[in-house]
Amino acid sequence: MCWGLDNRLNRIIKQDNRTVMLAVDHGYFLGPTTGLEVPKKTIEPLLPYADSLMLTRGILRTSVDSDTSVPIVLRVSGGNSILSKELSDEDITVSMEEAIRLNVSAVALSIYVGSEYEHRTIVNLSKLVDEGEKYGIPVLAVTAVGREMIRDAKYLGLCCRIAAEMGAHFVKTYYCEDFEKVVKNCPVPVVIAGGKKTPEKDALNLAFDAVSHGATGVDMGRNIFQSENPVAMIKAVRAIVHENASVDDAYKLFKGLEKEQNK
Ligand code: R5P
Repeated sequence: MCWGLDNRLNRIIKQDNRTVMLAVDHGYFLGPTTGLEVPKKTIEPLLPYADSLMLTRGILRTSVDSDTSVPIVLRVSGGNSILSKELSDEDITVSMEEAIRLNVSAVALSIYVGSEYEHRTIVNLSKLVDEGEKYGIPVLAVTAVGREMIRDAKYLGLCCRIAAEMGAHFVKTYYCEDFEKVVKNCPVPVVIAGGKKTPEKDALNLAFDAVSHGATGVDMGRNIFQSENPVAMIKAVRAIVHENASVDDAYKLFKGLEKEQNK
């Protein structure tokens, strides 16, 4: 692997081989998502606790100070909206040159395995990897996005493995039963999305299950920024991912921080 690419990936996945990525890219097809109405307001207090920030170039330019040292994972696929008939109708939306100008540490693109535009999104992943390899920029493949996909180990394993075969340097997917099989069959690091907002303890459970079954960490959005106490929540997630805290201990930490904040 090229030193620059390795170095960028190491800025995202820490020395303990774990990472807490903060995903705030939802607006690229959802528009002003709950909790992200004013992205700067949401992002600023969370940034010190994020190992990387995943977002679009528009939100990066407008809502993140350029003196940040937090690695940026730039979403470079899109072209659809929540109103689109077919969510998989995505293409590459940002050039590698622009990603380099923005000094990002990685780029992210969704693949839609089993959907109408599967072929285009998978070929785009390969093309993006070619570009990334040229300049030393790692590529994150975001898998298993789709309304009607059954998110089981067989399907998620298929998605992750295809992403790795196309050359993705790390993969984002969903947690499922038998998750260790997904990880075992994928030769690159796997991080999980948090999914829809659930009670804090459930989200902490999800993070715990994921890392204890082989995930490198989380790329979590709504379960952090839609929490009543986003900073307390990201700290609790960090305790699980980086300190191997139990769910109970992480939840206690969350409640304690929440109490302090409400004093
Ligand atoms: C999915 O297409 C996007 O990358 C989302 O931003 C990401 O999956 C969201 O994270 P979460 O599901 O934890 O809100």
